[in-house]
Amino acid sequence: MLIIEIIFIVFTLIAAVSIVITSMKTGISPSPSSGKTVRVIVEATENSGTGPMVDLGSGWGTLVVALAKKYPHRQVTGYELSLVPWLFSSIRKYVSGLDNLILNRLDFMDADLSDVSVLTCYLFPGGMVSLKDKLGRDNLSDVIIVSSTFALPESNPVKVVRVKDIYRTPIYLYRR
Ligand SMILES: C[S@@+](CC[C@H](N)C(=O)[O-])C[C@H]1O[C@@H](n2cnc3c(N)ncnc32)[C@H](O)[C@@H]1O
Repeated sequence: MLIIEIIFIVFTLIAAVSIVITSMKTGISPSPSSGKTVRVIVEATENSGTGPMVDLGSGWGTLVVALAKKYPHRQVTGYELSLVPWLFSSIRKYVSGLDNLILNRLDFMDADLSDVSVLTCYLFPGGMVSLKDKLGRDNLSDVIIVSSTFALPESNPVKVVRVKDIYRTPIYLYRR
């Protein structure tokens, strides 16, 4: 076996182990939103003003890159804890030359979201409970929340749009 093949296999294994360990810590794998879902989320953010947008758990950058391209004059920030997806999304950012996109390898639960206009997320039920607590604790207002698949507990969405896919994925839109 060529040394280059051994290096490739070792790096692939390290990357896979890193993704699995972080997924166990966060409670969700970095599965990207589908193209159809991204289109519905981006559409849901139209007419949301000009303020900063944040994707809570930006994964491989699928949604943040689409948002940063759609809104070149708005600041778009992604928070992601998983190293490999974060590195991949950072490469996407530089290849696409998206100066308005910031990618932080940080826990969004520790982030200051006070000046944010739009929050997007694709989490899991436990993550939505934690997010609800954070929104209340940080007293966030004047913010639009667009959540893929999972609803914010004890909150009434302004709108629910179904993606035209086999799961009829719900996209929940909230205003606070
Ligand atoms: C299902 S993926 C969604 C990726 C992306 N938003 C998209 O729509 O393609 C959820 C991501 O959230 C990240 N995540 C979960 N909890 C997090 C936290 N507290 N801080 C930062 N990232 C987190 C996970 O690592 C995972 O990559």
